[in-house]
Amino acid sequence: MPKPLMCPESLLQTDLSGRVYVVTGGNSGIGRVTVAQLARQGAHVVLACRRPAEGERVRAELLAEGQRGSIEVAALDLASLESVRDFAAGIRERHAQVHGLVNNAGVMNTPMGRTREGFETQFGTNHLGHFLLTEELLPCIRAAAPARIVNVSSCYHDMAQGRPGRIDFEDPNFARRPYDGWAAYAQSKLANLLHARHLARRLEGSGISAVSVHPGWVRTALVKSFAPVWFQDVLFRPLLRLVGMIEPWEGTQVTLYALLAAEVEAHPGAFFSQLGMYRDARANAGGLPLHSPNPEAHDDAAAERLDALSRQLVGLDAVVPTPAT
Ligand SMILES: NC(=O)c1ccc[n+]([C@@H]2O[C@H](COP(=O)([O-])OP(=O)(O)OC[C@H]3O[C@@H](n4cnc5c(N)ncnc54)[C@H](OP(=O)(O)O)[C@@H]3O)[C@@H](O)[C@H]2O)c1
Repeated sequence: MPKPLMCPESLLQTDLSGRVYVVTGGNSGIGRVTVAQLARQGAHVVLACRRPAEGERVRAELLAEGQRGSIEVAALDLASLESVRDFAAGIRERHAQVHGLVNNAGVMNTPMGRTREGFETQFGTNHLGHFLLTEELLPCIRAAAPARIVNVSSCYHDMAQGRPGRIDFEDPNFARRPYDGWAAYAQSKLANLLHARHLARRLEGSGISAVSVHPGWVRTALVKSFAPVWFQDVLFRPLLRLVGMIEPWEGTQVTLYALLAAEVEAHPGAFFSQLGMYRDARANAGGLPLHSPNPEAHDDAAAERLDALSRQLVGLDAVVPTPAT
């Protein structure tokens, strides 16, 4: 089994004092480690989560470890556009600048369900919630440029348990086709990737870098919607490690690299990958960046179409395409 890709130690020593980062799903798994590391480096981090009491508990634990920076907990339910708007309004009120937005929260292979506005749960939470959040925070991100937007996608944007990643533009919310939890996850993770790709084109020249990442197969609570987490964390942990599952610290490396490495600016809209499971096994070693084996991940017309569809679904006006927008 190849070794996980690691963020260079020098980047993890950089002083981030005076910088503000927003991390969604910051109470658990990869998000929690991202919050901890950025705060360790002196940043002010907004730990965005849908269960604020749990967020406060995590904040207290992280501060007890002795962070140089600070952590603020804020309520954000990505499955409610009203919650996204309220959260973003609060950030704009409290922070003139946001130097990094990590669209990290996510759910995987959930039973058929709908968000508050009726979108399929995974498309609505993983993509549409983050899409609106990004638009709502853009004024603060622009004000902080050079700044970064990192979408946490997955190698499953390519193929999830045999389901190829594709956006069904006719029926993204499974209103007219039979629901398949893995196909919905693959669609949402391809949407994360195309969202970053489209943002990068649109924000060219603004000093904002937008990219997407695959964190690896990481021991987190992500499996909770279809398997008991203790199966993975206790019972099968040694076995799963042998077949490629990595720890949260390792799984956070690509996110940190995408946030902190200067080289990332040379790859607008790119996909950065930890070890993965791709339909083309040559991609499994990952790459910083990695050329996705999914042809749909390189389709700028699809990225444009997804942008238009997402705007329509979340109730945003179309953007007039000028280099400055
Ligand atoms: N773990 C892996 O192997 C793996 C592989 C590829 C990609 N990823 C991606 O990595 C990201 C982080 O996942 P993880 O592995 O760290 O899993 P995790 O520990 O389950 O973390 C997911 C986070 O998302 C939050 N979340 C879920 N629904 C939300 C909503 N409606 N509003 C706001 N927050 C919500 C969760 O909050 P609660 O704690 O309240 O549920 C949790 O904080 C996800 O985007 C996932 O797709 C993970």
